[in-house]
Amino acid sequence: MTLHVSKHPVVADSLRVLRDATTEPEEFRTHARNVITMLLYEATVDLPVRHSSVQTPLAEADAIELSSEVVAIPVLRAGLGLLAPVLELLPRVSVGYIGLERDEQTAVARIYYNKLPRLQGKVPLLLDPMLATGGSAAQALDLIKEAGGQDTRMVCIVAAPEGVKVLQDRHPEVDVYTAALDSHLNDKAYIVPGLGDFGDRLFGTGT
Ligand code: PRP
Ligand code: URA
Repeated sequence: MTLHVSKHPVVADSLRVLRDATTEPEEFRTHARNVITMLLYEATVDLPVRHSSVQTPLAEADAIELSSEVVAIPVLRAGLGLLAPVLELLPRVSVGYIGLERDEQTAVARIYYNKLPRLQGKVPLLLDPMLATGGSAAQALDLIKEAGGQDTRMVCIVAAPEGVKVLQDRHPEVDVYTAALDSHLNDKAYIVPGLGDFGDRLFGTGT
């Protein structure tokens, strides 16, 4: 697995707002969107293309078209917060869904929903904001492979070294784009310093 940690100052500035414990859900959603939009540019820079031409009002011009369909795959529930910028940037994208939930005691993720289209010949783009133990991402990537996916990219907002190691062992071919590689997991498998529970902060469901 190749980890790409963004060095962009706009990403870093929005990440600061996401990390801030006083940020309310409305502002959290805005900055999550900013970070994902920026990471998407990095994750799509080498999408396959074909050369073509287009007729402008004045003349024919050389053109480039995306040659492979991208399939965005948000991991429910927090990954849904990353989907809107993908739909805006890539209008011809299709969408598959994977539902995974970590057990609060064991931090082991359980699959509760799997609705993927056939992925042969397409570019899967896995969307999950937190790579903590790596259990959720590793299971999602297993399902993507079973559906025929290759050349998968994953976009997340914060990664922990523990999750990176799991993906390096289980899915060495995947490229992961993130805003930050943090220090470690705490005893509840939360990323430190991290930003807390992403889904709760995004959807306003924290206590
Ligand atoms: C979060 C997050 C990831 C997962 C990462 O989801 O969105 O899917 O934890 O943790 P892991 O790397 O240790 O598997 P959570 O299970 O909290 O569910 P939610 O999206 O419904 O809030
Ligand atoms: N899921 C989250 O939302 N945050 C973490 O730090 C770890 C898993």
